[in-house]
Formats: sequence, C-alpha cells, structure tokens
Amino acid sequence: MDFKELIIQRQSVRRYLDKPVEPAKIEKLVEAVRLAPSASNSQPWKLIIVDNRELAEKVAKATFDKVLAFNKFAVDAPVFAVLVIEKPKTITQIGGSIKKREFPLIDIGIAAEHFCLQATELGIGTCMIGWFNERKIKKLLQIPEKKRVGLVISLGYFPDDYNLCTKIRKTKEEMSSFNKY
Ligand SMILES: Cc1cc2nc3c(=O)[nH]c(=O)nc-3n(C[C@H](O)[C@H](O)[C@H](O)COP(=O)(O)O)c2cc1C
Repeated sequence: MDFKELIIQRQSVRRYLDKPVEPAKIEKLVEAVRLAPSASNSQPWKLIIVDNRELAEKVAKATFDKVLAFNKFAVDAPVFAVLVIEKPKTITQIGGSIKKREFPLIDIGIAAEHFCLQATELGIGTCMIGWFNERKIKKLLQIPEKKRVGLVISLGYFPDDYNLCTKIRKTKEEMSSFNKY
C-alpha cells in the first residue's frame, strides 16, 4: 500500500468480527512497535499483547462503565495491545526535566501509530483507547503498581460492510503555516 493510502485506510475501527488474529500477524505488529523511534532511543515502553479471550474481555470491560460507555464496542475486540510506559534513559529524564517535556508520552504515541499503521496494512482494524480504568488494567495484567499505562489499543478483523469514513480534520490553513505561527 502506498503511504498516503495507508494513512487514509487507517481509521478507528469500533466493530470486530469474532475471528482471532493470527500469531504471525501479531508478531509483525510487535516488530512495528519495536522499530519505532524514541527520544535518545530510550524505547520507554513495554507492549503487552492480550490475546487470551477471557482476559481480553476483562480488559475491554475496564475501558468503560455505566456512566461513560462510549468504549463499549471494545467487548467485541478479540485482542488488545497495552502500552506500558517505562522509565526512559537517564539522559532523557534529565533532558525532559530541564526542558519540561514528557518525552515518553511522545514516544508512546509514535509507537502506537506504528502499531496501527502496520495493522492497517495487514487488514486488521484498531482503535486507540485513552479512556480506561488504569487501576483495573494494571491488576488484570500484573503491571507493577508504580508503572503507568500509556494507551490501550483494541484490534481485530472487521466486517466487510465497515466503510471507510471521511476523515473529519481541520483544514490545511487551520493546522499548518510556513515560516511563522
Ligand atoms: C490518544 C488517543 C486516545 C483515544 N481514545 C479513544 C477512546 O478512548 N475511545 C475511542 O473510541 N476512541 C479513542 N481514540 C480515537 C479517536 O477518537 C480517533 O482517532 C479520532 O476521532 C480520529 O478518527 P480516526 O481514528 O477514525 O481517524 C483515541 C485516539 C487517540 C490518539
């Protein structure tokens, strides 16, 4: 797929088929995250793939509650990827503190997009999920108390009638400029 086409095809998929994702494809997704760039090459992430169906359902249920149920679609996702934020290299910690920049958050975002673009190329739908019950997810996946969960990504195959949506975005004029703000 040509890069522009890949970007267009990548969209948040919120309907999934009851079909497992092949281990060889999961391997490629892991590799896409492994190769992502990061500040000082710190690679401040641990990627947890949740492909156990029972556990996946529990993770899904930790992304919504009765009041805020917009992530309810997640219960149909057969697999989840959970990006845990790891400590970056000391140089990145010092640099981030001096410059007041959260480099690991930037890094996690890039890694997540690598994951989603690779999934798109493989015909697998994804949705990045930033709204979740972190305490529950940490408990379910035995993530150490002091770590933070950066992002959860649901993934799976989607129905044939799942159409490509028009991307609602700011205009080029609104979101970009040349040579000044
Ligand atoms: C950091 C982040 C957090 C997000 N959290 C959620 C979420 O909790 N639930 C959800 O349905 N979509 C979530 N999304 C998906 C966005 O809503 C979606 O990317 C945006 O509306 C653009 O649509 P598109 O992905 O289809 O192009 C999140 C996306 C990002 C990047």
